[in-house]
Amino acid sequence: MASTTAYARPSKLPGAGPGERRPAPPRLIRAFLASGAKIEPRKLAAGLLAGCCLALLTYVSLAKLYAVYSPVFATTSALLQNAPPSSSSAPGAVAAPRPPEDPAFTGGNNGGAVDRVDLTEKGPGTAGSREPGVPEAVSRKEHAEKAPAPANTSAPMPSQGERKSNSSSNVAAGPMSCDENGVDEGFPYARPAVCELSGDIRVSPSQKTMYLVNPSGGGGFDEKGEKRLRPYARNDDFLLPAVVEVTVKSVSSPEAAPQCTRQHRVPAVVFSVAGYTDNFFHDNTDALIPLFLTTAHLKGEVQLLITNYKPWWVQKYTPLLRKLSNYDVINFDADADVHCFPRGYLGLYRDRDLIITPHPTRNPRNYTMVDYTRFLRAAYGLRRDQPAVLGAEPGMQPRMLIISRAGTRKLLNQDEVAAAASELGFNVTVAEAGDDVPAFAALVNSADVLLAVHGAGLTNQIFLPTNGVVLQIVPWGNMDWMATNFYGQPARDMQLRYVEYYIDEEETSLKDKYPKDHVVFKDPKALHKQGWQALADTIMKQDVKVNMTRFQPFLLQAMDELQE
Ligand SMILES: *[C@@H]1O[C@H](CO)[C@@H](O)[C@H](O)[C@H]1NC(C)=O
Ligand SMILES: *[C@@H]1O[C@H](CO)[C@@H](O)[C@H](O)[C@H]1NC(C)=O
Ligand SMILES: *[C@@H]1O[C@H](CO)[C@@H](O)[C@H](O)[C@H]1NC(C)=O
Ligand SMILES: *[C@@H]1O[C@H](CO)[C@@H](O)[C@H](O)[C@H]1NC(C)=O
Ligand SMILES: *[C@@H]1O[C@H](CO)[C@@H](O)[C@H](O)[C@H]1NC(C)=O
Repeated sequence: MASTTAYARPSKLPGAGPGERRPAPPRLIRAFLASGAKIEPRKLAAGLLAGCCLALLTYVSLAKLYAVYSPVFATTSALLQNAPPSSSSAPGAVAAPRPPEDPAFTGGNNGGAVDRVDLTEKGPGTAGSREPGVPEAVSRKEHAEKAPAPANTSAPMPSQGERKSNSSSNVAAGPMSCDENGVDEGFPYARPAVCELSGDIRVSPSQKTMYLVNPSGGGGFDEKGEKRLRPYARNDDFLLPAVVEVTVKSVSSPEAAPQCTRQHRVPAVVFSVAGYTDNFFHDNTDALIPLFLTTAHLKGEVQLLITNYKPWWVQKYTPLLRKLSNYDVINFDADADVHCFPRGYLGLYRDRDLIITPHPTRNPRNYTMVDYTRFLRAAYGLRRDQPAVLGAEPGMQPRMLIISRAGTRKLLNQDEVAAAASELGFNVTVAEAGDDVPAFAALVNSADVLLAVHGAGLTNQIFLPTNGVVLQIVPWGNMDWMATNFYGQPARDMQLRYVEYYIDEEETSLKDKYPKDHVVFKDPKALHKQGWQALADTIMKQDVKVNMTRFQPFLLQAMDELQE
């Protein structure tokens, strides 16, 4: 497919350059606001949609080229340590690091789903138990009753030593089933390996091992009866070496596994927060959304075990982790117990970045990004599900939040943009995302329109009320694929209204850095082909100063979108 098509802008308005549409005079809007009348919405939607679909198809075929892309252009050194990256490398400005000594809820006092096993009284062999260390009180039957009903698609919990019966679930016959080597063209990192286990599972964090009682020995184990996996939800060869490797060890009998010291009635989920986490975009794409996809159906009845454990990360997302799990997180890197479970997941299901689609095994409940945003609103107590209705109350002004930023991809004439937006009738707030996620989430949720430069805090769109408006300013340099796949399509999938503005050569700070005939201007595509580092050194290091003559119609369009 011709690459020129692939670079076509998906939502470019027909017949005019991005800046040349419909320069409606601001006073119209003011008059409208004063009168409380309704402006007829422009019916652009159908045309835009057709254009987008075509462009997207083409994107996917070209997308391999962009496999290494991420809105994050963090330095490699920080990634390979278990250390927070410098805040300057984090485009989701919410990602400012917290001091690692912050003790968050490490595994300690778990709630009702765990029973501390007293080994002195209930050792192996007592009471005729074939399961060492499992007291009578926690019989298999009780597990079955107290464990959350597994997904309807899953087979019933097998009793000990029993093979799993056939079902429509992705868990094949046998106590372990792994989803590996999945391919999503253009998003090679989107299909990390995940294993589901059922039966008698004994997790020994100190040995980085999940023992699985598996008398038949079958089910995808190597000749040593092991299966190794690095449970970070981004299948990226560059990142995986720094992810703790966890071994699933198949053992022929309960006696061959370590004794349980804590018995859980709910499934375990073991995953890593290494890699790019601490960047707000990646916190969502590589951990939180995958966690949501994997565990939301369990309705809190799940035990999370986190490796590459970062106390500040766990603290930062406590409201979300609490919403997903009724039990304190267990620090997989520093826990001496042997935790026993009737079911378990090693790794997380993950889709594209902020895009999730139905899938018979990876997303069988067909969760959408709308579900994810509802979940976020519930977890953070965000009140607004819908944006303001224009003209509903006299004098009411729709609210616009402009995300400002200290690092690169600054909006240099932010004040001018804010003034123009106020002039149009917006109640404008300019704010930089700090490390207080709940507070910033509330601020975003109170807005009707979110305006930000690509990769500069735009991930915060997840907190907007449904039908709110996102205005993405796309920097110079053939950023179409990234603009669409990291923010544009996600916005649509979250049922937000989406407006994008592509800057031209005159509006980028790159014009002060490179001559007009430089490859940055003449052939930015060539830079993309050179790969990530070439981009990071050039195009990703730009600030933006929008031409108000071109930009103003887009502010107006944002206002219009609130009519529909
Ligand atoms: C799946 O479970 C839900 C509630 O847990 C129930 O309403 C629904 O009927 C079940 N579907 C099937 C096919 O069993
Ligand atoms: C289970 O699946 C296997 C092959 O996938 C098939 O041969 C067998 O008949 C199935 N058993 C049942 C009970 O459906
Ligand atoms: C998910 O969507 C598929 C079609 O895409 C449908 O067949 C299936 O029934 C849906 N599952 C649920 C749980 O809604
Ligand atoms: C503008 O927003 C602020 C909150 O940031 C609010 O207190 C104020 O009432 C709003 N003004 C109008 C005119 O809506
Ligand atoms: C701003 O855009 C308008 C319309 O495209 C153009 O005529 C004008 O020259 C631009 N101004 C600058 C400073 O580039």
